Amino acid sequence: MASELIYRGPESLPVPDSYTPKPHKPWFTVIRPLRYLLREQRIVFLFAGIAIASLIFAFLPSSRSGGSNYANTGIYDSYLPSESTQSQVAHRIIYQNRVGFGSFNSGGKIPLGLQRKSLRIVVTGGAGFVGSHLVDRLIARGDSVIVVDNFFTGRKENVMHHFGNPRFELIRHDVVEPLLLEVDQIYHLACPASPVHYKHNPVKTIKTNVVGTLNMLGLAKRVGARFLLTSTSEVYGDPLEHPQKETYWGNVNPIGVRSCYDEGKRTAETLTMDYHRGAEVEVRIARIFNTYGPRMCIDDGRVVSNFVAQALRKEPLTVYGDGKQTRSFQFVSDLVEGLMRLMEGEHVGPFNLGNPGEFTMLELAKVVQETIDPNAQIVHKPNTEDDPHKRKPDISKAKELLGWEPKVALRNGLPMMVQDFRQRIFGDHKEDSGKITTA
Ligand SMILES: NC(=O)c1ccc[n+]([C@@H]2O[C@H](COP(=O)([O-])OP(=O)(O)OC[C@H]3O[C@@H](n4cnc5c(N)ncnc54)[C@H](O)[C@@H]3O)[C@@H](O)[C@H]2O)c1
Repeated sequence: MASELIYRGPESLPVPDSYTPKPHKPWFTVIRPLRYLLREQRIVFLFAGIAIASLIFAFLPSSRSGGSNYANTGIYDSYLPSESTQSQVAHRIIYQNRVGFGSFNSGGKIPLGLQRKSLRIVVTGGAGFVGSHLVDRLIARGDSVIVVDNFFTGRKENVMHHFGNPRFELIRHDVVEPLLLEVDQIYHLACPASPVHYKHNPVKTIKTNVVGTLNMLGLAKRVGARFLLTSTSEVYGDPLEHPQKETYWGNVNPIGVRSCYDEGKRTAETLTMDYHRGAEVEVRIARIFNTYGPRMCIDDGRVVSNFVAQALRKEPLTVYGDGKQTRSFQFVSDLVEGLMRLMEGEHVGPFNLGNPGEFTMLELAKVVQETIDPNAQIVHKPNTEDDPHKRKPDISKAKELLGWEPKVALRNGLPMMVQDFRQRIFGDHKEDSGKITTA
C-alpha cells in the first residue's frame, strides 16, 4: 500500500519505445523536387517552355483578340484608325475602368484572352446632325450608345434606324438638369450650333453651355467616365491670327449677340479643364470648324445648308456682305473620325478639327451652282453682326498627335448632302435618311 503512495517524478515515468521523432531535415523538401527536375533533362524542358511563353506574350499583338467591329459604314471604312490602335485603346480603357487603374497607362500590354468589351457611351445631342453620325459609327463598332437629347434642333428621324437595336437607347432629357448614368465615355455635343438656333433663346444657349456642361462633367467625375467636349472655332472670335492655332486665345466680343454661343463654349472649355486639373476627370476638347453633310437642319442659316436648300428650291443663293469672307468646310465623316480618335487617344487637347481648304462665300456659291444648278442666281444682303472675316484651322497638332486629317473634298462631300436634302425637301423620305453609304 505504502509503495502506491510513493511520488514518481517525471524521470521515473516509463518512456514509450514505440515513437522516435525523425530529425528535421529542412533541405530535404528542396532537394527532392530538384532531383526530380534534374532527372531526364526536365529542367531543360521547363526553361524552354518559359522562353516560348515569354516570346508569345512579347510578340503576339495582344489587341487582335477583340477584332474590328467597324463594319458596314461605307465611306467611313477608309478613314478608320488601324484595328490594333482601336482595340488596344479600348482594351486599355476597359482595363482602366473595370480593373481600376488610376491613370491611363500608355505602355501596358493586355493579357491574352481579354476580349474587347463593348463600351457604354453617352452622346448628348446625339439626335442632331453631328451626333447622329457619331452614333452610327459607335454602334457599328459594337458599343452601346445612350443618346440624351431634348430635340431642340435634333430629330428622332436621325437615329430611328437604330430603334430596336438592344445596344441603342434614346432619352429625352435636357442637359441643364442633372442625370445619373453608368457609362465609360461621354461625348458632350448638346448645344444648338447654328446662329439662327442659338440666337433664338440666348439665355437657354448659355445655360446649356455652362450648366449643361457642368452636369455632364459632374457625371463624368461620379462614374469615372472620360469626357469629350465639342467646342468650336468660334472661341477664336474674329481672329487676328490666320490660320488659327490652338495656342491662339481669340478675339471675342463678350457682350455681342453671338456671345451666348462663343463665350458659352469658352466657359465650357474652362470648366472642362478645371474638372481635369481639380477633379482628375479625363477630358478631351475638340474645336470644331464648319462642318456639313447629310442630316444638317434645312434652313438653319448655316451657309452650306442655306445654299443647297436655296439651289434645290430654285431660289437665289444669299451671300451676306461682299462674299469675300472665308470659311473652311469639312465633311461630317471626317469630323466623326477626328472626334473618335481624340476620345480614344491620350491627349487632352484642345485640337482643331476642320478642313484647312479655304473658300470665300462666292467660291462656295459657285461649287453649289456646279453641283445643283448652274443657272442659280446669287443675291447679296448686308452682313450679320460679328460675322468673322476669316476662318481657317491650323491642324498640324491633330495631324501629329492624332494622326488625323480630313479626306473628303468639298466637291465629293456636297453631292451626298444634296441627295439627302433633295429627299427631305421633296418628301422622298427614307427611314435611315442621311446615312452615309459607300460612294
Ligand atoms: N456643325 C458644325 O459646323 C459645328 C461647328 C462647331 C461646333 N459644333 C458643335 O458640335 C455640336 C453638335 O453640333 P451640330 O451641328 O450637330 O448641331 P445640332 O443643332 O444639329 O445638334 C445639337 C443637338 O443638341 C441637342 N440639344 C440642344 N440643346 C440641348 C439641351 N439643353 N439638352 C439636350 N440636348 C440639347 C439638339 O436637340 C440637337 O440634337 C455642338 O456642340 C456644336 O456647338 C458644330
